[in-house]
Amino acid sequence: MAIDKEKCAEIIEAFDVRQDALRKIAEDFQADMRKGLAGDPASSMRMLKSYVGLPTGKETGEFLALDFGGTNVRALRILLKGGGDYEVLKKVTKPLVFEGVYDFVSAASEAKDQFDFIAGLIDEVIEENHETPYLLGHTFSFPSAQTNLYDARLITWTKEFATKGVEGEIVNDLLKAALDRIGALNVRPVAVINDTVATLLAAAYKTPDTYIGSIYATGQNTCYLEPFTGTSERAMIINMESGGFSKIMPSKYDEILDAASEKAGEQRMEKMVAGRYMGVLYSLALADLLGSDSAYNFTSIDLSAIVEDAYLDRHLAAEILERETGERFSQPECVLLQQLAAAIIVRSARLVAASYVGILLHLTGNGEITEQTIAIDGSVYEKMPLVKEELRNTFDELLGADAASIRIVLENDGSGLGASIAACIA
Ligand code: GLC
Repeated sequence: MAIDKEKCAEIIEAFDVRQDALRKIAEDFQADMRKGLAGDPASSMRMLKSYVGLPTGKETGEFLALDFGGTNVRALRILLKGGGDYEVLKKVTKPLVFEGVYDFVSAASEAKDQFDFIAGLIDEVIEENHETPYLLGHTFSFPSAQTNLYDARLITWTKEFATKGVEGEIVNDLLKAALDRIGALNVRPVAVINDTVATLLAAAYKTPDTYIGSIYATGQNTCYLEPFTGTSERAMIINMESGGFSKIMPSKYDEILDAASEKAGEQRMEKMVAGRYMGVLYSLALADLLGSDSAYNFTSIDLSAIVEDAYLDRHLAAEILERETGERFSQPECVLLQQLAAAIIVRSARLVAASYVGILLHLTGNGEITEQTIAIDGSVYEKMPLVKEELRNTFDELLGADAASIRIVLENDGSGLGASIAACIA
């Protein structure tokens, strides 16, 4: 089947975000931050208080960390040595879904089973030692309403999680009950933080002048240190739940994806930019291009591989495309389909960069952007082609000379290290 070149160009165009639109997105993002902080329901971002500020860097001691927020759950025993230094003493990772064996994520699963499974992981890192007292920091990467560092109530699942009996509950109470059931009364969960907050804590432990922490992975979200200038409130990290930002013009593929998702109407920005969704967007766009009504199952890993194929004959891209569509495409067609994949990735990075610019505008008011570091964790940032360059290009585009003040670093010890720091601060 020959590809309709004109139609392909149109679809690529549908993923293009021009500079003026991007500027507007950054401004709307800033406005929503302000509204969200003031509790105005017109904001599409939750702006959740985390009840923790930045670490001093002097935090020390042995702690447990739990990282629960994606398809893999991790439990760690960590020794904080101060000054950015730490050692992972033991680490256990397990998937929450094992095809055909168990599934602790779908709507058919229950809170008790999910947390029993997680408590089992913690038991492995403490080697079933039920004597030594441990404080545990929990990186729980879903929107949670907090009234203090311990008390985090899951507002709603995101990222297509659907386990019954967790929404509306205090997650550490569920964890504590599961630990009690296995006799691990010596493990005391003391802090719950979002993964963005964990990333920021970990990065700030090592590098001062870091005020923004972000996850760019299966999900996408950002936090920052809110100074609460001019109020009596102390500076605190705010988990924005920026994946909920909704003031971006969607393409028709974004609309189809949203309508078919677990939570239609929610997490609109996340569904345009995150790793969980980019492959789905590509599948929808390609089905439209080919006039097919079959549902393809491209993943963002496929997108990366398609874009990265630099062989002259594009045989690697052709193989992936054939695997999913059953069609064999010629070299020039593969080049077009590479451009389509690139357009989805580039749009993602541009939107994420615009959201960072929105935060910088909020933090600086009309002042100059000071030298600082933005810490990012996640496989999309770390591994997908074009993402790092596009973030930088978009900063240059939107910030001009000020872009040089911003350093972006990969912080991939976030969830474990950040959780231990939070446990220590608690
Ligand atoms: C989703 C969650 C958010 C988390 C992000 C990255 O957006 O709602 O809490 O930080 O995924 O894991």
